[in-house]
Amino acid sequence: MEPLAAGIAHEVRNPLAIIRSTAQYCLGEVVNNKDLEESLQTIIKSSETANRVVSDLVEFARPEAVDFKQQSLAPIIKEGLRMVHGRAKTQKVKLSKSVARNLPQLFLDKKRFLQAYINFLVNALDSMPNGGKLRVEAARDNSHRGVRLIIHDSGKGIPEEVLSKILQPFYSTKKEGVGLGLPIAEGIIRSHGGKVDFKSQPREGTEVMVLLPVRKRNINGNHSRY
Ligand SMILES: Nc1ncnc2c1ncn2[C@@H]1O[C@H](COP(=O)(O)OP(=O)(O)OP(=O)(O)O)[C@@H](O)[C@H]1O
Ligand SMILES: [Mg+2]
Repeated sequence: MEPLAAGIAHEVRNPLAIIRSTAQYCLGEVVNNKDLEESLQTIIKSSETANRVVSDLVEFARPEAVDFKQQSLAPIIKEGLRMVHGRAKTQKVKLSKSVARNLPQLFLDKKRFLQAYINFLVNALDSMPNGGKLRVEAARDNSHRGVRLIIHDSGKGIPEEVLSKILQPFYSTKKEGVGLGLPIAEGIIRSHGGKVDFKSQPREGTEVMVLLPVRKRNINGNHSRY
């Protein structure tokens, strides 16, 4: 990303942090005033949204240096599910997983892979506001000599005319969506030499299929950017 853009991102984040902490301070001082409390909560929530937009933009324009290591996928799958567990519970979404025992180790940048995986999980949860099932499966994919990770939800599904656009930056069908979640996730999976496919049946759910190759090191050395 251009230094100018990075500078602007920085300059926007600072006042956002001040807005947020000031609103939080005021919230602590409010006594017996529900309206004011709600207004302050709106300020906090909006500043968090704005902060996320800036972070996504920065990540999209200039992905962080990558840090690949040979490691198992299983604990990462578990960690991601743990991170969305609270939200799943409030939404009455049942989480489940099935991870094959014989999975080979993969060459992964854990932090970034987790970011992609969480984006898939959050999209799945977004599609099930009134409950449902979210299932993650990982198994060997012998025909591609790699590992297949599937994130399956029983949510509202993706209509055919939407499916062709979901990887476009800033495409979103959600009221508060930015539309960078999938482009970022797809870029991360690609930087791992993998690919992502989507299968969906409107009103029945969506299946995100991530195919990861088994390889010893990334093509461009350890600190490449994709
Ligand atoms: N599991 C899913 N079920 C239904 N629709 C989905 C699913 N995953 C993605 N989509 C569709 O793809 C669109 C793009 O997804 P993407 O994650 O890029 O953006 P977003 O979720 O709308 O916003 P954000 O930037 O907050 O992630 C979504 O708005 C939604 O219409
Ligand atoms: Mg998303």
